[in-house]
Amino acid sequence: MKISVIGAGNVGATCALVLANKDAASEVVLLDIKEGIAEGKALDIWQSAPIDRFNCKTTGVTNDYEATAGSGVVVITSGLPRKPGMSRDDLIETNADIVKTVTEQVIKYSPDASIIVVSNPLDVMTYQAYLSANLPRTKVMGMAGVLDTGRYRAFIADELNVSPKDIQAVLMGGHGDTMVPLPRFTTVSGIPITELMDQDKLDAIIERTKFGGGELVKLMGTSAWYAPGSAAARMAEAISRNQKRVLPCCVKLEGEYGLKDVFVGVPVVLGRNGVEQIINLNLNQDEMLLLQQSANAVREMMDVLDKKRK
Ligand code: NAI
Ligand code: 2OP
Repeated sequence: MKISVIGAGNVGATCALVLANKDAASEVVLLDIKEGIAEGKALDIWQSAPIDRFNCKTTGVTNDYEATAGSGVVVITSGLPRKPGMSRDDLIETNADIVKTVTEQVIKYSPDASIIVVSNPLDVMTYQAYLSANLPRTKVMGMAGVLDTGRYRAFIADELNVSPKDIQAVLMGGHGDTMVPLPRFTTVSGIPITELMDQDKLDAIIERTKFGGGELVKLMGTSAWYAPGSAAARMAEAISRNQKRVLPCCVKLEGEYGLKDVFVGVPVVLGRNGVEQIINLNLNQDEMLLLQQSANAVREMMDVLDKKRK
């Protein structure tokens, strides 16, 4: 399967590199509006193929969507990243215009593609891509939960001094401070986390996870890219290899969890057809309340976008 990555900045280039290293696609096309940047990064990645031993051909183009034609997956990372002091929501105006234009072009050349949105504010940009793509909800999804659970699981691994490979977790809701990590669905090789960690330590990890993006913006002056690029690649690979992976993704809910017409993160099954199932967990009252609050926060931002569109 051919995969295209739109935006050859920090996240896009990392995503392309990870996909190539996994040989997760027959070809990866990187596209950017900045002259030469995608060509240069794709060439640089390709020159690592003999060293890291992969076959996946990487090609870069400047704003030439014809080169993306026939992609099975398109990852959209184009847009501005956060600077210190900015929230993800501050990016809404600029990035909505970018995501709209890009999605329209992508769909013109790859009408059957599954679209994975990365640009922020994530849940609202997924909504924008859904509106512009005019595809079923199963084909347009956002990347946030894979990253946010990655952070949550890494912090737990550090605290317990165990392998991050053995931490399993579910995290739902929007990609923001209202995200909902779920301790009841967090295990270490099947052992409930509550058996291994005090509640205050877990609460501190949950708080750190919620602000995990901001922690990195403060340190680096721009937002993160290694884990985000890997997370987007993980989702693209699940689709290209038809892996039926269970991953938390931002999707349009149509009644699941009692929520309708809102884009939030929930566990889904990803395969060749995109979002092949939405897993509808039986949440308790407290968990449901947190998910509803998170969905309300996303809905407010969706309203901002709706007003802008009028
Ligand atoms: P970056 O600035 O390094 O790269 C963005 C790239 O998009 C630039 O190379 C720029 O030239 C390109 N671009 C802008 N407009 C374009 C257009 N119309 N067509 C094609 N390319 C265009 O930014 P970075 O760090 O890669 O972040 C990208 C986006 O991803 C940001 O919105 C950021 O907030 C978001 N992000 C989302 C995460 C998530 O969990 N969903 C995690 C990390 C970043
Ligand atoms: C992150 O969580 C800023 O959304 C970006 O790193």
